[in-house]
Amino acid sequence: MKIKIFSGSSVLKLSRKISKYLYTELSDVNIGKFSDGETNINIKDSVRGKDVFVIQSTCFPVNDHLMELVLMIDSLYRASARRITAVIPYFGYARQDRKTGSTKTPIAAKIVADILSVVGTNRVLTVDLHTEQIQGFFNIPIENISGSEVILEDIRSKKLYDPIIVSPDIGGITRARTIAKLFGNIEIAVSDKNRPRVNTSKTLQIIGNVKDRDCIIVDDIVDTGSTLCSTAEMLKKKGALKVIAYATHPVFSGDSLEKINNSFIDEMIVCDTIPISKKIKGFKNVRYLTTSFILSESIKKISCEM
Ligand code: R5P
Repeated sequence: MKIKIFSGSSVLKLSRKISKYLYTELSDVNIGKFSDGETNINIKDSVRGKDVFVIQSTCFPVNDHLMELVLMIDSLYRASARRITAVIPYFGYARQDRKTGSTKTPIAAKIVADILSVVGTNRVLTVDLHTEQIQGFFNIPIENISGSEVILEDIRSKKLYDPIIVSPDIGGITRARTIAKLFGNIEIAVSDKNRPRVNTSKTLQIIGNVKDRDCIIVDDIVDTGSTLCSTAEMLKKKGALKVIAYATHPVFSGDSLEKINNSFIDEMIVCDTIPISKKIKGFKNVRYLTTSFILSESIKKISCEM
């Protein structure tokens, strides 16, 4: 394969795993800062005529990582790369995907899609995009691969008593159904949540029968942990046995890890679309799974045009 893989600074460990899987080395780039805080990019390898992949999650600090990504792509475009694929394991700003009510708010996900196109991105590869509709913001091909395969393998390795898959909100029903179906067509339950304030979520009721059953909550993002913690509390109130929570993207902002540790969640499992190995040290009920295999396989398919 004549591919070149570059990594932004957000996901170096994951990028190394991917390049190892693809029997290649990460290409050389200097990523730094000017003294005024501006991002400084210098691509060291030749990319003329090459099929190039740039791996970067737009996680915290979101704007810096986004800027790194677009400046790297601009440099590669100007250096005559044949095709540039932005591999964005975690696509930040995705939750700002519509105007909310009558307020004057931006559609930030659309702006990010536009910026990526403008700098010369030919294709985007991402994992568990917050909503499928965001794909329509792009005028270039975008592949949104599912983390379900990784999560399912882990669920299957567990001894569960009469398990039920739980969606922590109405928006997550499709995800919950997919996993429930692949797991053997088991039942799903849904948490009816609202957000009394920004970053706070309250579970009003659980739709479905969770009494004396092991509950597996599946979500795309865990940020403040509020959604998962309040869902777990209500599940236990309704007689659930174990509550295991899965989320693809561990944003883990603020004191979310402490909150999860002190909650009704028995185990929290996330993916490595955002690096957290240092953050979760000491939190025994939190662990992570790697997405390197599914991303590597997709990169292989894109590059071989399979
Ligand atoms: C919401 O629609 C998402 O799917 C997640 O449930 C949400 O972003 C989680 O946020 P938090 O952890 O802050 O409740």
